Amino acid sequence: MNVTLSHLVNDDASLISRRCWTDPQVYALEKKGIFARSWLYLAHESQLPEPGDFVQAYMCETPIIVARGMDRAIHASINSCTHRGLPVCRSDHGNTKRFICPYHNWSYSVEGQLMTIPQERELQHQPDKTQLGLKAVPRLDNYQGMIFGSFDESIESLDEYLGDMKFYLDAFFERFDGGIEIMGSPHRWLIDANWKLPMENQLGDVNHGPYLHAAVIPPEANEEILRCGYSAVPKAGHGATFRLMDESTPWEQLAWGMEGMGGILGGTEVQEYLRETQAKAVERVGPIRARMKGLTYGIYPNLSFLWSNTSFKVSHPRGPDKVEYWSWAAVPADAPAAVKRVLRTNYSSFFGPGGILEQEDSESWMQQYLGANIDFAEDRPFYYGLGLHDEIKPDPDLPGAVSITANEHYARAFFTRWRKQLEAVA
Ligand code: FES
Ligand SMILES: [Fe+2]
Repeated sequence: MNVTLSHLVNDDASLISRRCWTDPQVYALEKKGIFARSWLYLAHESQLPEPGDFVQAYMCETPIIVARGMDRAIHASINSCTHRGLPVCRSDHGNTKRFICPYHNWSYSVEGQLMTIPQERELQHQPDKTQLGLKAVPRLDNYQGMIFGSFDESIESLDEYLGDMKFYLDAFFERFDGGIEIMGSPHRWLIDANWKLPMENQLGDVNHGPYLHAAVIPPEANEEILRCGYSAVPKAGHGATFRLMDESTPWEQLAWGMEGMGGILGGTEVQEYLRETQAKAVERVGPIRARMKGLTYGIYPNLSFLWSNTSFKVSHPRGPDKVEYWSWAAVPADAPAAVKRVLRTNYSSFFGPGGILEQEDSESWMQQYLGANIDFAEDRPFYYGLGLHDEIKPDPDLPGAVSITANEHYARAFFTRWRKQLEAVA
């Protein structure tokens, strides 16, 4: 690189060069230093209940097939034929016994082994098929049904990788008797922005809510965030924002995150389900987390989750200047069908390619990307210093560094880790 990383991110990460979002050399380093060395979200177990079930995924720009094998274990393989590299799986999801490459019809098991080569019966010497299977993702692990993969064989366990983020994840995932399930296929669309912009937004930037989303988010929701909102960094790179309501808060104000938004979560059946869920919350997640109303969660490097709109999102890079955004509705598995439908309507009204909040956010990320790419502004890095010198005291009830939401510590922690990982491969 013709610039040192300390010029891109200063030592306290309060100044971030515009090049971090636009430079192809930075992007090449991100592939080596981050995407080859992290746990990356692949799929949710609820999408793969039966042997032979599969979904497509990506690890950065590498296409992946995630499948439940005939042995019932989860397998993940690179979707590229070992003959000439074509994708052997063309469907986004389905159930099959074999993936058959369209070019010369080599066939592979769902576990990734090469099974048949049609041309081999004409040959005198048969190739060793055991050496020609699809390349397997070497590390796979699962937390609360979320399947992650890593290309780094020596990476720490997923458990260690998530660290105290699990405390915050469990507040949602453990809340429901039947756990969480993904509803249907993902929304997938391209945004003219760098992959880190959606991520940074959902690690902790709830500060734009009252301004960018002023037409949609009612003032009382913003007042609630000011009164009892927190931004937690359980481990550098991960982040969680939430409200911790006081003990006298009635259940209907606790049960979900956005019930103030136009009554979309109204209806007797939904209210009934939320009331029952909240009644069991203390027993399931303990007294502190029972009072949590989540906002945004981010898991390094590119998975995020919006509790209040029940969406999972993965920010797949497509070069420095484009992100392919994948987004799913995630609903409690034990909820009645009518409740799931309402939750999915809530999700797609606000998020997904046509969601109101998503439109406003995406436009801002595209504008920020353009702002990062203008000429003659290299001596004006972006300012990430809000709250830099504010004291953050440990909270006995909440793990990690926990602050008010106006503090941009979540972004500084992300870029500090980002810089370190790029330095290791520069
Ligand atoms: S490229 Fe796949 S069979 Fe030839
Ligand atoms: Fe937003």
